[in-house]
Amino acid sequence: MTTLGTPLTPHATRVLLLGSGELGKEVAIELMRLGVEVIAADRYADAPAMQVAHASHVLDMLDVDALRAVIDEVRPHLIVPEIEALATDVLREVEEAGAATVIPTARATRLTMDREGIRRLAAEELGLPTSPYRFVDSLAELEAAIAELGTPCVVKPVMSSSGKGQSVVRDAADASHAWEYAAAGARAAAGRLIVEAFVDFDYEITQLTVRHAGGTTFLDPVGHVQVDGDYRESWQPHPMPDAAVRRAREVAGAVTEALGGYGVFGVELFIRGDEVIFNEVSPRPHDTGLVTLASQHLSEFALHARAILGLPVPAEVDAAPAASCAVLAEGSGVPVIGGVDAALGVPEADLRLFGKPRVEGRRRIGVAVATGGNVAQARERARAAASALDVTLA
Ligand SMILES: Nc1ncnc2c1ncn2[C@@H]1O[C@H](COP(=O)(O)OP(=O)(O)OP(=O)(O)O)[C@@H](O)[C@H]1O
Ligand SMILES: [Mg+2]
Repeated sequence: MTTLGTPLTPHATRVLLLGSGELGKEVAIELMRLGVEVIAADRYADAPAMQVAHASHVLDMLDVDALRAVIDEVRPHLIVPEIEALATDVLREVEEAGAATVIPTARATRLTMDREGIRRLAAEELGLPTSPYRFVDSLAELEAAIAELGTPCVVKPVMSSSGKGQSVVRDAADASHAWEYAAAGARAAAGRLIVEAFVDFDYEITQLTVRHAGGTTFLDPVGHVQVDGDYRESWQPHPMPDAAVRRAREVAGAVTEALGGYGVFGVELFIRGDEVIFNEVSPRPHDTGLVTLASQHLSEFALHARAILGLPVPAEVDAAPAASCAVLAEGSGVPVIGGVDAALGVPEADLRLFGKPRVEGRRRIGVAVATGGNVAQARERARAAASALDVTLA
């Protein structure tokens, strides 16, 4: 029997969100609907999930002492990471002490914190197909890896996300440029890079996978377009040959089982014919899965909330044709969004405006989602709604 308490009382079921962006905001809303007490943390004030949480904390989540102090104060039942850059040793201590459950597991947060842990697990331990790769720590090693793997190849800092510091090397002479670009984009562990052979895929998908008390549920494939390593559009279901669907589920099943725990995982896969190549995995809802806000009766966020609380998740979740289109802002300032009426005038379209307090550089500030008679129509509507918005920075 699962029992949930009442927020803000000694009987509350408390969830600490580590990372309070737009994905955390949707998870917070789903938890709130079940009467869970949500405490949101991030490195800046007024982050999207903080705006819908019972309480919030601003801290550097890579700082061991700061993270430990917040966990001691909040005494959460569940710790739900939304980002990779965390002091994962603290999460391991907390899990070992039995003080809280880390979602999905402390080990999963450590292995997916950098590209090396998860790539070695997938390719070397589980034997899953990946692009050929090398890890390098210097420009000389990078040049040697490029010579071995050939061009084109993709160079990425081991600690980075959203395409930061990532570049495609088309000519061996570009090595020093890729090295410097990676150093500027890395989050931590500056200097260590992964070099991957370029995969000439037909398309790429996110295989959303839910591990829950009743087993594992595979959602319909989410297709997506990435520009500069950042997602711009996604849609569901992406048409795929049956053999590739089966293989995608096998690969996603293997990697998520190895990571363990309960929750949604976003398994990024490259598809070439019936061949499925593992790219990476988020042990949490995935940005391309924002489309499930429109496509599914239970979105990836609702499914995450259910799974982590040990509640039932259906064995099959049908997806109606739907699409999402990112709304970007570029520059510096506070987003002010015009044209909301026009965007919501697009048939079957809806918006999620994240409420990010400030933009510096290029940031996603919202998403348009839409359903349609088919994926092509849904994509047109989502794009039309996103482009009806007039974003300025005040
Ligand atoms: N080896 C590769 N061959 C071809 N394309 C690649 C390769 N690696 C990455 N890409 C492209 O770049 C995109 C981003 O790469 P990846 O997912 O590794 O980085 P990321 O920074 O973690 O991105 P995100 O945080 O948006 O998931 C991929 O979705 C894919 O489109
Ligand atoms: Mg990715």
